[in-house]
Amino acid sequence: MSAGAIGVRNCTEVEEFRAFVALQKEVWGFADNELVPLRIFSLAPKIGGQVIGAWEGKTLVGFAFSIPGVRNGHAYLHSHMLAVKAEYRNSGLGRRLKLFQREDAIAHGYELIEWTFDPLEIKNAYFNLERLGAIARRYNINQYGITSSPLQGSLPTDRLVAEWWLKSNRVEGLLSNHALPAVTEWMHIDVPAEIYAWKANPDTRQKAAEVQLRNREQFLKAFSEGLSCLRYGRDENGSGVFVLGRWDEDWSYASS
Ligand SMILES: CC(C)(COP(=O)(O)OP(=O)(O)OC[C@H]1O[C@@H](n2cnc3c(N)ncnc32)[C@H](O)[C@@H]1OP(=O)(O)O)[C@@H](O)C(=O)NCCC(=O)NCCS
Repeated sequence: MSAGAIGVRNCTEVEEFRAFVALQKEVWGFADNELVPLRIFSLAPKIGGQVIGAWEGKTLVGFAFSIPGVRNGHAYLHSHMLAVKAEYRNSGLGRRLKLFQREDAIAHGYELIEWTFDPLEIKNAYFNLERLGAIARRYNINQYGITSSPLQGSLPTDRLVAEWWLKSNRVEGLLSNHALPAVTEWMHIDVPAEIYAWKANPDTRQKAAEVQLRNREQFLKAFSEGLSCLRYGRDENGSGVFVLGRWDEDWSYASS
């Protein structure tokens, strides 16, 4: 699928937002009462949030959606959803949406975009850390409770918090030199490629739950010791590995 004919832009019209609700349902398979509703898409751009669509003609093929947050007196964006229609994935559109989101956020005075992601999703972890330059140093246990999304396989919705410091050396360097800084590895946390198959089958779901629990304990311990997820490796079998080290930049809105 060619990404060339796809236009990425901010959206403001109710008719456009209907397509966001529909694509959200298509991508996550949520029950209706778990969907972000039309009225929140309408509200977000009016209060400093972003509703960014990727359109092929009149068809919405991807979107990024964020709402404003405040931490210790600092405004930032929480990016609640990023979605690309299945047949348009892996052609750079997800990254294009995020880079548009970054530019738009900087233009509105933000320096941080955060979002949460499932640390068992190998593609997303790679995308966030390696392709965008986000870092992660916080872990939320069962953030949304058990949801109806088949992607979740009835496991607790544990999430890592991605912090995308828009003007950090790390992100600016990645955008200009296509490279992240080298990291001294303090520890690593593995995610086996079989995790998707284990989650999908009730007979093997326990194995996925065990990996989630093991990794949860490792993340919590590492973060309590001041480590951050800085790099993400993939092997030839499709397994993933978080590489943790000490971030040498001091971007933070945490209270001192
Ligand atoms: C996450 C998502 C938005 C990414 O969109 P996309 O258009 O596929 O993203 P891009 O093409 O820009 O980048 C994807 C990268 O992941 C890589 N990738 C693809 N499959 C992978 C896998 N199984 N393991 C590791 N990396 C993988 C691609 O090669 C690409 O990297 P590259 O640019 O180095 O080649 C899309 O997959 C999606 O909608 N997923 C479902 C919803 C979701 O999980 N949203 C994010 C959480 S809110």
